[in-house]
Amino acid sequence: MRVQSVSTALLAASAPLASAQLHRYAKKAGLLYFGSATDSPGQRERAGLEAAYPQYDAIFADNDQFGQTTPTNGQKWLFTEPERGVFNFTEGEITSDLAAKQGKLLRCHALVWHSQLAPWVETTEWTPEELREVIVEHITQVAGHWKGQCYAWDVVNEALNEDGTWRESVFYTVLGEEYINLAFKTAAEIDPEAKLYYNDYNLEWPGPKADGAIRIVKMLQEAGIKIDGVGLQAHHVASRAPTLDQQIAVLESYTALGVEAAYTELDIRLDVPSNETSLQWQKGAYINATGACAQVEGCVGITLWDFYDPFSWIPYVFPGEGEAHLWFADFTVHPAYYGVLAALKNATGACDKKVRGLAKLFRS
Ligand SMILES: *[C@@H]1O[C@H](CO)[C@@H](O)[C@H](O)[C@H]1NC(C)=O
Ligand SMILES: *[C@@H]1O[C@H](CO)[C@@H](O)[C@H](O)[C@H]1NC(C)=O
Ligand SMILES: *[C@@H]1O[C@H](CO)[C@@H](O)[C@H](O)[C@H]1NC(C)=O
Ligand SMILES: *[C@@H]1O[C@H](CO)[C@@H](O)[C@H](O)[C@H]1NC(C)=O
Repeated sequence: MRVQSVSTALLAASAPLASAQLHRYAKKAGLLYFGSATDSPGQRERAGLEAAYPQYDAIFADNDQFGQTTPTNGQKWLFTEPERGVFNFTEGEITSDLAAKQGKLLRCHALVWHSQLAPWVETTEWTPEELREVIVEHITQVAGHWKGQCYAWDVVNEALNEDGTWRESVFYTVLGEEYINLAFKTAAEIDPEAKLYYNDYNLEWPGPKADGAIRIVKMLQEAGIKIDGVGLQAHHVASRAPTLDQQIAVLESYTALGVEAAYTELDIRLDVPSNETSLQWQKGAYINATGACAQVEGCVGITLWDFYDPFSWIPYVFPGEGEAHLWFADFTVHPAYYGVLAALKNATGACDKKVRGLAKLFRS
């Protein structure tokens, strides 16, 4: 009942805080960062909104707002190795250079993933030996190129089906689950300082898919291979988002394994156009995601999958849905923005405990 009344108070939060800034409050709540993924201007062109770039760039550049970033697309296989043995880091460097210039923490994304894969990987008939070489060479070149710059790498992305079984990708079909071990082992050799993550969606509540992620962590640990974190993409739907309690429970099930966790691609979509009711649902769902990460010791940070509605991937993949981010097209903020801040402020009391927990994680 107490949670309920606290939530009601948080939902009412709307007064613009004078210095209301996400990363600053996240640090006060004991998180390492609050950030946003961003794409290269080339990838944003489809929005046809070049006039918005200066205002977008100014919001992004404020490190009190966003202390961390992830390249939305540029480090994916399609861009980094479009043909076998032909590596191209230009697209990925747009965001990594920006992070370096602005002093933002960089999460790197993603080394082995079945989607946005270069076509040659899927159209070739591989022997297991050949595909192992392809994976090792890709990780060696890509993680090697950004060596020392990435706080974390999403080493394997989306290896699970919703029921927790293995997804039938080219990697799984040719190699079985051993491709996961190979990817993490190679990444650990190439960039030993980077935190190595397994990253997926729908890992934000307990169930078969979360059990699958736990199975992956244990599989690597039992093989003596380094894994440091579970990335919860958190592409939620406002009307049926996981509750605070579910998210705390599942985060604790990951951190109990001795790894950290992070929200890596948070967005919460609505049927468009939104209305006051749906924006309130969205606010509640953002409060619960933020509050869960802020309260659980091993949850280190939150990354939005961009912050500006017009640069969203959602309408292209889920027609009829959108407005999933914290800034509307006209650069006013969603009610959810104040919800995120309120949830961070609400967690500042728990900060000491959390900081001690993080310190413990980093020593190990
Ligand atoms: C490398 O990638 C960039 C950005 O996507 C592209 O403009 C360029 O043509 C690519 N270079 C080569 C040699 O293909
Ligand atoms: C947030 O979590 C609380 C507690 O678990 C739950 O009662 C509430 O319905 C959730 N709100 C939303 C919008 O999901
Ligand atoms: C607001 O949006 C929700 C979700 O799309 C819908 O169910 C509801 O009927 C809408 N309410 C109004 C007043 O239009
Ligand atoms: C706000 O803080 C209280 C007290 O620590 C906690 O019980 C509650 O779950 C928090 N709410 C959210 C949404 O994190």
